[in-house]
Amino acid sequence: MGVTPSDLAFVPFVSVENMMRLVNATGPERFMAELATYIEEDFRRWPEFDKTPRVASHSREGVIELMPTADSALYGFKYVNGHPKNMREGYQTVTAFGVLSSVANGYPILMSEMTVLTALRTASTSALVGRYLAPKGAQVMAMIGNGAQCEFQALAFRALCGIERLRLYDIDGSATEKAARNLRAQGFEIVECHSAQEAVEGAQVITTCTADKQYATILTDNMVGAGVHINAIGGDCPGKTELHRDILLRSSIFVEYPEQTRIEGEIQQLAEDHPVTELWQVMRGEAEGRRDPREITLFDSVGFAVEDFSALRYVHDRVAGTDFVTPLDMLADPDDPRDLFGMVMRAR
Ligand SMILES: NC(=O)c1ccc[n+]([C@@H]2O[C@H](COP(=O)([O-])OP(=O)(O)OC[C@H]3O[C@@H](n4cnc5c(N)ncnc54)[C@H](O)[C@@H]3O)[C@@H](O)[C@H]2O)c1
Repeated sequence: MGVTPSDLAFVPFVSVENMMRLVNATGPERFMAELATYIEEDFRRWPEFDKTPRVASHSREGVIELMPTADSALYGFKYVNGHPKNMREGYQTVTAFGVLSSVANGYPILMSEMTVLTALRTASTSALVGRYLAPKGAQVMAMIGNGAQCEFQALAFRALCGIERLRLYDIDGSATEKAARNLRAQGFEIVECHSAQEAVEGAQVITTCTADKQYATILTDNMVGAGVHINAIGGDCPGKTELHRDILLRSSIFVEYPEQTRIEGEIQQLAEDHPVTELWQVMRGEAEGRRDPREITLFDSVGFAVEDFSALRYVHDRVAGTDFVTPLDMLADPDDPRDLFGMVMRAR
């Protein structure tokens, strides 16, 4: 008849509800630790990927981005927005969904919510990078910006780097209260701070995870002591940064994909040829990570398509043959591939 969809019409779909079930069934820390192995594996085969800076559509209020990449077998992309004012209006600052497809025939093999998955993959990447760059024995992390990403960052840093103590600060005290409540329930030792300056005291790792559509100065030069690792998450768009330029000039800077980071990251404040180290080379042992205990290392994170590809690949492996997926009738599949019109008419 051509009215009932055939098997080929269905794409496995991971809804928000199922993503939450999957994360809870796995445990968020184990989820992010396992995801980190996928991310690391993909960074170590970096030259195999088609890469491009993400395609960004900017407006006064925010940005909508498409993030594609592919290897010889799989193609992935993520749709993601960034609207710092959203949170005040009851919307998420960042929402996302994505698709993983077969390169061989172009058919999607997975569609997934990626709002939760982006928080997980961002944190997983940060902590993986932290394992290469954070000073040995780091136990205390300052977390400046206590919004949607915050708890994921904390849990990933505990799972991968052994961080047990957190110093929280947000300009909005209710965000800090929320994060403190959530993270105490996860067994962290928490200090709620009243300024960024207070938050960084005694911290070996500083995570900045704020959202503001401007050249912000979350950290000034005097706040960053020798030997610290900075995990800078929130500066990820032209005209949206978090660190004073002087900090960048004292730091060894590590990036995902320089072509994108020079447009979007903290280093948009520096000369185009300012030296940076690519993380995939560090992970392959072809470039040095932290060289000495007094060095300031900076992960100028903007989020790159390969991390989303790794996340989709991980979720695809995890959900195969489970009830964490629902079939989505997404691909028209006429009995005769050329009779698409006939299929539409038969459905009348
Ligand atoms: N690098 C990446 O891969 C990546 C991935 C996801 C999100 N992000 C970015 O991370 C940031 C945080 O995302 P989110 O989803 O948690 O946003 P969110 O809006 O939920 O939280 C941001 C928090 O920052 C706080 N804040 C704003 N200005 C501040 C300041 N000057 N000092 C202290 N706190 C301040 C806000 O009060 C809010 O609680 C955003 O800028 C987002 O674009 C980056």
